[in-house]
Amino acid sequence: MPNIQIKTYQEYEEAYKRSIDDPEGFWSDIASTFTWRKKWNTTLEWNFEEPNIKWFKGGRLNITENCLDRHLKTRGNKLALIWEPNDPKERFVRYTYRELHEKVCQFANVLKKNGVKKGDRVCIYMPMIPELAFATLACARIGAIHSVIFAGFSAVAMSDRINDAQASIVLTSDGLNRGAKQIPVKRVVDEALEKCPSVNKVIVVERLGWAVNMVEGRDVWYHDEVQGVSKDCPAEEMDSEDMLFILYTSGSTGKPKGVVHTCGGYMVYAQYTFSNVFQVQENDIYWCTADIGWITGHTYLLYGPLLSGSTSLMFEGVPSYPDMGRFWQVVDKFGVNIFYTAPTAIRSLMGGDIDDVLSYSLDSLKVLGSVGEPINEEAWHWYHTHVGKERCPLVDTWWQTETGGIMISTIAGITPMKPSHAALPLPGIQPILVDTEGNEITENEVEGHLCMKFPWPGIIRTTYGDHERCRLSYFSTYKGLYFTGDGAKRDKDGLYRIIGRVDDVINVSGHRFGTAEIEDAINHNDHVVESAVVGYPHDVKGQGIYAFVICKEVPEREDYLRAEIIETVVEKIGKIAKPDKIQIVSGLPKTRSGKIMRRILRKVAEGDTSNLGDTSTLLDPDVVDEIKAGAL
Ligand code: WT7
Repeated sequence: MPNIQIKTYQEYEEAYKRSIDDPEGFWSDIASTFTWRKKWNTTLEWNFEEPNIKWFKGGRLNITENCLDRHLKTRGNKLALIWEPNDPKERFVRYTYRELHEKVCQFANVLKKNGVKKGDRVCIYMPMIPELAFATLACARIGAIHSVIFAGFSAVAMSDRINDAQASIVLTSDGLNRGAKQIPVKRVVDEALEKCPSVNKVIVVERLGWAVNMVEGRDVWYHDEVQGVSKDCPAEEMDSEDMLFILYTSGSTGKPKGVVHTCGGYMVYAQYTFSNVFQVQENDIYWCTADIGWITGHTYLLYGPLLSGSTSLMFEGVPSYPDMGRFWQVVDKFGVNIFYTAPTAIRSLMGGDIDDVLSYSLDSLKVLGSVGEPINEEAWHWYHTHVGKERCPLVDTWWQTETGGIMISTIAGITPMKPSHAALPLPGIQPILVDTEGNEITENEVEGHLCMKFPWPGIIRTTYGDHERCRLSYFSTYKGLYFTGDGAKRDKDGLYRIIGRVDDVINVSGHRFGTAEIEDAINHNDHVVESAVVGYPHDVKGQGIYAFVICKEVPEREDYLRAEIIETVVEKIGKIAKPDKIQIVSGLPKTRSGKIMRRILRKVAEGDTSNLGDTSTLLDPDVVDEIKAGAL
């Protein structure tokens, strides 16, 4: 097996150069290190106009054969997965590659027995328990398309996603543990399914042992179904460009879009980036704290590590339970070597007692990672100093659901590291900055909109059921380019620093929401006439949600109304999208054509009303003074 891991800066430069001069040769060599049932005919076929992007066309494979079967000979008894429960008093569980292979095959056979076929969409709404990993891989095993929905989303959000994908089955659990709380997951599924005629089967995994409502003919228990089921399940042979999964994410319109990734390219990109960015060694214990319900969990908890034959730790709980030292206690408990988390988690832990970190040794740590949002310098230094003891490289990894894997990041210990900078693009990645007219800015020490010039194997292929939406969202703003939606700076040495979204998307604790999506939810409240949502800087979450709301009549108790509005958002999207501030206003700053001037609202939300710019073109300039006066 040729080694795909870059070991020196010179090797990085060589790999980067080759990936530009001869992208097909470069990726073809990397792809050759995988197990294919049939080799591809064409390495790359693409245009960004339609868009139409095909990697390794004609290749036949199954990603789970690459995650599991191919390791059995050499790593059969090596740990594939370590599962740490929410409650530290509950026993952890470990699975070797052989055991994981069996669990996945069994789950796959249970899916087959329940009528799931290649190409069917399977909705997975489960907590962070091992069965979530088994279920996801089981879909891939039989060629079903998984759509994992983070178990914090509401019933309404779930049913929208199920209907968009026309899923035929839901895999779930009776309930979940989250710190000291227990949440009745199955009840949320039942509510969602009232509006999902495509679903005819629900498989329920027991986690809490709660009595749940089981619908006759529709719902079955996993532990009943798995009785006597074979531990062997042949992998379905897939085309390189067959869909592997759909993952819903927010854009600037109200409706979440189903980002589609395909088998071959995603596989190659997930492993290449995992192995390189973290500089993973054979016996490393690797821990990514993300939930499998997000892309980070897909690529860097599940697929990337397993494709590499690594040991991946999966944690059911939260960083603050039973106390603020939980992450570090788990690091010491298992001797974690590589730790990958989000800035929001770091910022929330910074708020705790420093002894919650200092009382653990953390000696095993070698590499730290950050993902999901810009990491501010204070958090960067705290993480680097107190967790990494200044001896661990800290990689700030910039990427997106749509990119499938890491795009711009320090390669641990090899390429330059600079606080709050993602730094250099990985081999194969060709970022450019453009001005608002789409002209490339070639100098350094500049700022612009971040785009990509050339495809990489993990790039989004389409948005499920609506290809035009994919074109409009990513390939139409700047002709011939993939537009990320992010603004970025490039310093004098060519290192990138991501600033944040330049579209109507806000990033709350590393989770993406369209402002339109939250507004839609708020507007469902009977008292609300209209609303406008913007993000503002928040100490822990990165961005907080600030909502300006016009009501039908002046409420008697604003606090009651606010609570009601929050409830509406929780019902339509989930707790994760709760507005932090709600300001009741009598009007919104609009242009004569009726467009809300968000720039003004953003300034107010930031608490900076000194220079609101020209407001004379507004329909009703007076409304600005009222909004300023009532700012929270
Ligand atoms: C958006 C993508 C990538 C997995 C988690 C989020 C922001 C992501 C960074 C970073 C600054 C970052 C961007 C991006 N973002 N990583 N290291 N530095 N910003 O995935 O939900 O698809 O969100 O998150 O704004 O566009 P996602």
